[in-house]
Amino acid sequence: MHSLCKSPRVLVTGSLGQIGTELVSTLRMKYGAENVLASDIKFPTEKAKFDVEGPFKYVNTNNIEQIKEAVVNFRANKVIHLSSILSATGEQNPDLAMEVNSHGAENCFKVCNYYGASLLIPSSIAAFGPETPRHNTPDLCIQRPLTMYGISKVYIELLGNWYNQKKGLDFRSLRLPGIISWKALPGGGTTDYAIDIYYQALKKGHYTNCFLKKDTRMPMMYMDDCIRGIIELLEAKNENLKQRTYNLGAIDFTPEEIYESIKKVMPKFKIDYKPDFRQSIADTWPTSIDSSCAKKDWGWEHDYDLDKMTDVMLMNLKKKLFV
Ligand SMILES: NC(=O)c1ccc[n+]([C@@H]2O[C@H](COP(=O)([O-])OP(=O)(O)OC[C@H]3O[C@@H](n4cnc5c(N)ncnc54)[C@H](O)[C@@H]3O)[C@@H](O)[C@H]2O)c1
Repeated sequence: MHSLCKSPRVLVTGSLGQIGTELVSTLRMKYGAENVLASDIKFPTEKAKFDVEGPFKYVNTNNIEQIKEAVVNFRANKVIHLSSILSATGEQNPDLAMEVNSHGAENCFKVCNYYGASLLIPSSIAAFGPETPRHNTPDLCIQRPLTMYGISKVYIELLGNWYNQKKGLDFRSLRLPGIISWKALPGGGTTDYAIDIYYQALKKGHYTNCFLKKDTRMPMMYMDDCIRGIIELLEAKNENLKQRTYNLGAIDFTPEEIYESIKKVMPKFKIDYKPDFRQSIADTWPTSIDSSCAKKDWGWEHDYDLDKMTDVMLMNLKKKLFV
């Protein structure tokens, strides 16, 4: 497969989600639109579509034949597997989370191994659990997550190690923190409050019922950093990678700190709190993660701090909502 195609030919699954909609456009700008096949089970709409148009295919990752067909017909030599049921939605529908997150990933491993394509699957801070050291969490530590989503992420990390060591599959993964963006809506994660707060600040001047307590610190990242991190790892030289899964850290803050950051721009902004079941998920996750291995092995640095992210979120959401 690799010998047939010099330029990367990338299949992206679950590409109409929060990360995929932005990743696909950036990849198309870099590799040429015709070299990036977007896929999902959703229909691309005005609300969920790519800035850079290109090929699209229906691929349900629970169905191995559909992944095979896409890889073979497109001659994909890289697969970025994004289809997933996120943490909060997964706890409400554990059977679906198990099917999509574990079985869908198994299918991607089998297909990529068979056809010689490389495979990148994001992991998450949800792969950690209550026994994990919570502050500046290292890459290698105890991982006993309590959510179905987190369990599937540990499974994927370990399968990736196995396929890499036993079969030589080029598997790469990043443990992403909560990703903050304004283009597509988030898919039901425990960090989603940090996006909704910007929408409500602009729409109502008041964020009601924040579902986490005001002092719940969590690792987060602005989308532009996330997209750059994914592509930097995708393109990193294999011989530089000392491990298959890397923590990808950026910033960390509490609901109160993001509220204060928004207040610097909108002094009349108000917030009130009503923690729900997502609090107990957040309580088992790290408050910050150590990404020194990503820095050492492939030069990872984040760019956006909290206030810079607030400025760009408010500026872009204002245009999106009111212009
Ligand atoms: N967004 C975050 O904050 C975050 C944080 C950590 C890790 N991640 C990881 O990044 C990846 C992408 O996350 P996201 O935020 O874009 O997710 P999302 O929920 O926004 O999008 C997931 C997409 O997968 C699609 N999908 C669901 N079931 C499918 C199936 N059976 N076949 C094909 N497609 C299917 C959905 O239609 C959706 O478009 C996931 O692996 C997720 O675990 C995301």
